[in-house]
Amino acid sequence: MAMAIKSTLQCVVFLMALITTHLIPPADADAGSPKVAMASSGAGSSFRLVAHHDYALRDDGFLHVQSRLDDLLPSEANVTTLRPPVASPIDMAFSVVVGLGSGKGRHDYNLKLDASGSLMWLQCKPCNPKQPQRGPLFDPKASSTFQQVAGTSQICHPPYPMEPAGQQCAFHLSGEHGMSVHGFVALENLTMGPESMKEFVFGCAHSAEHFNSQRTFAGVAAMGKMPTSLVMQVAARGQTRFSYCLFSGGASRHGFLRFGADVPSRPGLRTTKILPALDAHESQYYVSLVGISLDAKRLTRIRPEMFARRRGGQGGCVIDPGTPLTVLAREAYRVVEDAVWSDLRRNRAERIQRQGYGLCVRKTAEIKRHLQSLSFHFAEETARLVVKPEELFTAVEGRLHGPALCFAMSPGERTVIGALQQVDTRFVYDLKDAKLSFASEPCSQDTAGVD
Ligand SMILES: *[C@@H]1O[C@H](CO)[C@@H](O)[C@H](O)[C@H]1NC(C)=O
Ligand SMILES: *[C@@H]1O[C@H](CO)[C@@H](O)[C@H](O)[C@H]1NC(C)=O
Repeated sequence: MAMAIKSTLQCVVFLMALITTHLIPPADADAGSPKVAMASSGAGSSFRLVAHHDYALRDDGFLHVQSRLDDLLPSEANVTTLRPPVASPIDMAFSVVVGLGSGKGRHDYNLKLDASGSLMWLQCKPCNPKQPQRGPLFDPKASSTFQQVAGTSQICHPPYPMEPAGQQCAFHLSGEHGMSVHGFVALENLTMGPESMKEFVFGCAHSAEHFNSQRTFAGVAAMGKMPTSLVMQVAARGQTRFSYCLFSGGASRHGFLRFGADVPSRPGLRTTKILPALDAHESQYYVSLVGISLDAKRLTRIRPEMFARRRGGQGGCVIDPGTPLTVLAREAYRVVEDAVWSDLRRNRAERIQRQGYGLCVRKTAEIKRHLQSLSFHFAEETARLVVKPEELFTAVEGRLHGPALCFAMSPGERTVIGALQQVDTRFVYDLKDAKLSFASEPCSQDTAGVD
């Protein structure tokens, strides 16, 4: 891996030659997402990809999580604290390490991976309120390469999450669980590995409310389709493909978010198309999911309409490493849960309740042998994404009621293939040709020791 990074050094000069001052064009609100002029260069680069999991992977291959409620003794269980699950029952987050600034103002920041985000942002000095993060806050005054984006700039208006505020360009982002982030848009030197890219657009946040930083993240590495996202800015500099392979965690190793020539070639990649945006605000990578199989048997009650995309962000299917567990459109979830349960019941599983999950069974050696894999079928005949039992169930531990195996998906408004179900699959996004390719891979092989 180190060699792959080194080999990119020789490309830096070529890459710099490609950088122009107007990488991000003005948005054309009529025609889907604003387009980025993309020409592939021969360059490649890699960011470190870090797993932040609050559970350990045991030797049986399942992710082990502590039951949140089961652990309370009945006398301690205070009814007012027993809330229905609002978030996913596990925190499975990945971050990329990005260097920002120059001279004494340059530091590395862990930015949470978010497949749908439209603008990379991080907490800047001063930030009020701010959330705890690893390392110092980015200080614009300490970096000679920091530049404010002017309110008159071509990019300072919708569909970008920006608007002029006096001389400056302000941004506002909101998200799940009441997250609300405000600040100003700026340009800075961004480094990944040995390379640096100048005039990278990012949001310098001066207020970050309800941002779940997990005491680590300085902000968010937006990977969406908007030209102001991290991946589209790298793409505009000629590295139009990116790839990741989520590994099952552990603090001693990190993986890679790879771009351009650093994207490894793999045998057996299956390809599906990334659907064109329905409107200018759409930043996510929608794919055309048409069916689901359990153990290679197609579930006939699953209809493609269950995954149909509607305007205004309703329905559809996206792939998102920033969502811990897969969400299935409600109708489809019912069919899949029924099928998983009827199979487990045939194998004499004992159904038990665990908060945050629809289907759990008592974990026994016998049942572990009978778990099946699930496949997602995309519109193209051969594009089938297989999820192994180890990524389909989590092992939920609890002192009171003993260990359970829980089906790690939940019902929702639209289908999101989440991080756990992406573990040990290589994904390659081709932004120029709007294609997503994937293949099964032991992702820990593309990791390096943390130094
Ligand atoms: C239950 O928890 C709430 C909030 O933490 C507290 O105000 C209340 O006194 C508790 N009730 C009992 C019976 O412990
Ligand atoms: C900023 O990035 C550019 C382009 O890679 C590089 O030439 C320049 O030296 C960097 N500036 C500083 C102060 O690091």
